[in-house]
Order: sequence, then C-alpha cells, then structure tokens
Amino acid sequence: MTLRAVLAGTGSALPRTRVSNAELAERVDTSDEWIVERTGIRFRHIAEPDETTATLGADAARQALAAAGLQPADIGLIIVATATPDNTFPASATKVQAILGTPDCIAFDVAAVCSGFLYAVSVADSMLRTGAAKHALVIGSETFSRILDWEDRTTCVLFGDGAGAVVLSAKDVDDDQGILATRLHAEGQYCDMLYVDGGPSTTGTVGHVRMQGREVFRHAVTNLAAVLGEVMADVGLSADQIDWVVPHQANKRIIDATAKKLGLPAERVVLTVDQHANTSAASVPLALDLAVRDGRIKRGDLVVLEAMGGGFTWGAAVLRV
Ligand code: UT7
Repeated sequence: MTLRAVLAGTGSALPRTRVSNAELAERVDTSDEWIVERTGIRFRHIAEPDETTATLGADAARQALAAAGLQPADIGLIIVATATPDNTFPASATKVQAILGTPDCIAFDVAAVCSGFLYAVSVADSMLRTGAAKHALVIGSETFSRILDWEDRTTCVLFGDGAGAVVLSAKDVDDDQGILATRLHAEGQYCDMLYVDGGPSTTGTVGHVRMQGREVFRHAVTNLAAVLGEVMADVGLSADQIDWVVPHQANKRIIDATAKKLGLPAERVVLTVDQHANTSAASVPLALDLAVRDGRIKRGDLVVLEAMGGGFTWGAAVLRV
C-alpha cells in the first residue's frame, strides 16, 4: 500500500456577469476579431463588488466538498492560490475557512500567480503524504478584473474572474490512483515580464497588471513543453498514455503549440479559454471541474495539469483520478 493524495471532488464558481468581446469593444479600442484570432477568448466573467476572491473560492469549495461527500469540519488543510486576495492579510484561505465554518485547521495562501494552483497542489500533496491532514481543500481563486488597467488593451482583454477547487484526500492505495508526480519551477530574473506595478511594500497601492506579451508567450510554450516532458518521464509515461491534459488557459495558441510540441492530440486537451479567458490560478481547477462534471474526465483516467505565469513560475502534475 502507498499513501497518496487522491482527488475526491471538484468544484467551481463564476461571477454572475459575463462580458463578450463585442461588449468589451464598446469600452476599449479592440475588436472581437482581434481577440479571437490572437487568443481564442470570446467571453470572460467579471466580479461584482459583492463577489470576491474569498466568496468565489468558498462557493467552489462547497461544490468540491459536496462532490467528495465531506463536510467543512472534515477539512484539515485549506490552501488558496491567488494573486488577488481580498486583503493584503489575513490569507484568503482563512476567510474561506470562516465562510465555510471549518473549525481549527491549517490555512494559508500561495502566491505563484497563474501557476499558483500547481504550486498549491504540490504543497498539499506533500503535506497529506506526511500526515499533516487527512483532507485538503486546494482552491485557485482570482478577481483579476480588480487589478486590470482598463485603458491598456494589451492586457485588459485577456483576463477574467473565477474560482476552482479540489478536495484531495490522503488514502492508502494499492494501485496508481492519486497524484503521481509534480514538478515546480521559477526563474525570478524574468519577474518584470509579467507583474503588477504596485504593492504594500513599494507604492502602497494595489497596482495594475503589466505584461510583455510576446516574451511571455515565447517562454510559456518552451517551459510548458519542458515541464510536461519532466512529469511524464517521472512516471514513465508517453503522450499516448495520457487521457486528458488540463492546461492553464491563457491563450489558445499557447495551448495548441504546447500540445503539438508533445504530440498530444487536441481532442484530449480541455479548453475553456474561449468561455473564461485567463483566470490565473483559477484556470486549471475551473477547467478540471468542467471536464469532470460534463463526464469527459472519468475515474481511472490519467490527467496532466500544467501552468505558467508571472515570476516566471511554472509547473505540472500527473494524477490518476
Ligand atoms: O498566464 C500567463 C500569462 N499570459 C500569457 O501567457 C499571455 C502571453 N502572450 C499572449 O498571449 C500574446 O502575446 C498576446 C495575446 C498578449 C498578444 O498577441 P500577439 O500576437 O503577441 O500580439 P502583439 O503583442 O505582437 O501585438 C500585435 C498588434 C500590435 O499592433 P502593431 O504594433 O502591430 O500595430 C498591438 O498594438 O496587436 C495590437 N493589439 C491589439 N489590437 C486590438 C494589442 N492588443 C490589442 C487588442 N486589440 N486588445
């Protein structure tokens, strides 16, 4: 028997308001054609004032708990991956804990921007396997619309708000169920390629997203293909043994180019960027939940998750669901 972190349930939450490219083009100097052609994005959800990173995260968490057949009190560890916390502190994870009514447990945030969910999954996997908790809620939740410069068409059309959550449970298994490998990377020398131009310790303001899009694009395809190769080698798998890839949803062209580099057919790649745009740390768990709920991802499937974002940070995980 091997103690592994096993996927017990998934959930997601989207803000009520959905904005199309055409609606955006009424406020910003852009067009539906440009956005679709360059990114694949058609819609994004934008949070209303009463919808925050913590409330969306808690909504996604409730669904994941229900899918796992667990109560808030069963949870011993809550990790929220976010770059857009409700407050500088406390951690959004403690706010989610309060909303859910989870009693004393471990709760903290992980800041790795778009790779945050992969970082959080990797940390939860390690903690579950060392006995720190029996059940963990791992949440990616973002309200990126709050840090967008709505005058900057090179960034504001790309992002959306939302949350995704998984319950991971420590379980003794006699097969290859659960998280089989994770790989994380960071290269801080690229920290000014994609960043927010404000913060508590510098400007004392929240700031706005700034990005050198072409450079990020180039690094994303190279780094994502490399890290996918690493996790697949870790578990001795080739591309044809993977049932589903759930990639970070930043740009359809990045997703297509990465899949092509690895010889992964498009039919096995979960795509939500058209509906949600880039929801940063929420994008992978949101896409995972959709594919689980619509029946594409089934028990026993081999699933690979990957993401890349500001820092640069990037990572991947392989799991048998
Ligand atoms: O989560 C990880 C972080 N994000 C990413 O992974 C994003 C990575 N980068 C990208 O996805 C792409 O680089 C973008 C979608 C951001 C940009 O696509 P691109 O094909 O690299 O376009 P570009 O930046 O080279 O811009 C091409 C043209 C420019 O006009 P000129 O200089 O050629 O006349 C831009 O001014 O497109 C113009 N442009 C726009 N036009 C209409 C830039 N943004 C817009 C816009 N609407 N929203």
